Amino acid sequence: MLTWERVVKFSHQCGPEVGVCDRAWVEIDLEALAENVRHLKALLAPNTEFMAVVKADGYGHGAIPVAETVLAAGANALAVATVDEGVELRQGGITAPILLLGANPSPQHIQALLRWNLEPTLCDLDHAKMISGMLARQQSGASDATASSPLRVHVKLDTGMSRLGVRWTEAVSLLQQIQVLPHLQLASLYSHFATADELDPGTMRQQQARFETAIAQLQAAAIPLPKLHFANSAATLCNRASHYDQVRVGLALYGLYPAPHLRSQVKLRPVLQVKARITQVKTIPPGTGVSYGHRFVSQRPTRLAVVGIGYADGVPRRLSNQLQGLLNAGGQVWRVPQVGSITMDQLMLDVTDLPDVKVADVVTLLGTLGDESISADDWANQLGTISWEILCGFKHRLPRVQV
Ligand SMILES: Cc1ncc(COP(=O)(O)O)c(C=O)c1O
Repeated sequence: MLTWERVVKFSHQCGPEVGVCDRAWVEIDLEALAENVRHLKALLAPNTEFMAVVKADGYGHGAIPVAETVLAAGANALAVATVDEGVELRQGGITAPILLLGANPSPQHIQALLRWNLEPTLCDLDHAKMISGMLARQQSGASDATASSPLRVHVKLDTGMSRLGVRWTEAVSLLQQIQVLPHLQLASLYSHFATADELDPGTMRQQQARFETAIAQLQAAAIPLPKLHFANSAATLCNRASHYDQVRVGLALYGLYPAPHLRSQVKLRPVLQVKARITQVKTIPPGTGVSYGHRFVSQRPTRLAVVGIGYADGVPRRLSNQLQGLLNAGGQVWRVPQVGSITMDQLMLDVTDLPDVKVADVVTLLGTLGDESISADDWANQLGTISWEILCGFKHRLPRVQV
């Protein structure tokens, strides 16, 4: 897992004359992250809480520095997918509430979440009983002085995502049974949108209507309502009625929009940039094949810049011959094409038209240089995927460096 200790180590190794790394790296702008949190919070009612989703190593940005920054910027709680991700945050000194979005009813996972004070998602009674039973056994072995407070648990309703969660029609029955189990405190009831980023709000509204139905049924059954939350990034931007007591924001934290039509809702700045250094510059004659499979053949005398980054770092090989890089040369910013197959550790740029390119020059593959920028959305569109996947794709081999 990536921590700032590792980043510091890299900075130290490489020395100030080379910057923070001599090959390839991910730059993280923590001020942009904090600003994104502040702008997103400005969309909320004063009492609405802000849960920051930092799973998948903070969407590839480094979970601990991201967690520290968002909490300092006003987030109230964090969410991760797995117990390991929660443990990493606790070991990194994070004390804020941490919701586990995934559910894993294995005794080992339950032991770990109890030990590290992580708050599980429950979707069925068996899971709840298992946790309650383990807590009871723990408490019976503890003296009064060491007996701990009840574990905060969260119930997830499936209102239409058809992934994790108990169907909304079964909310009353599940909550009635959970609320009488000892050692558990129902901290929240939540659900997740499947289509909040789409132009047509129909399915989002239908899901929300189901959530409202479940809430009304709980009230009718005199079950005290815990904290309610539903909104991901898209719903936080487009559907204020879905904010309830808390929003759960992932992608937007990192400065990306879930969909183009949501850009006007808030000003966000991308937090992550991917950069690499040129390791060799050479000229090849016309008719020369480049890289595995010779999927590019030069049509003219071509100056190639070899760059020290490849698919083992998270640059998708499927972008071969489509990728572009941004370079500063001759006092000007250039957008240059990548040519030939992207290999495991290296890729080639065609820099024939640039006045002056040298070994150790820095190429921006994702990010902004002067007036030019290449975003995770650009890569996602080229690949027919989503920016979430691009962000999570950068491997640990790339050091994360704070700018
Ligand atoms: C349950 C849940 N809530 C919130 C989020 C955050 O979503 P987004 O990154 O679209 O804000 C996710 C992300 O996948 C999630 O699984």
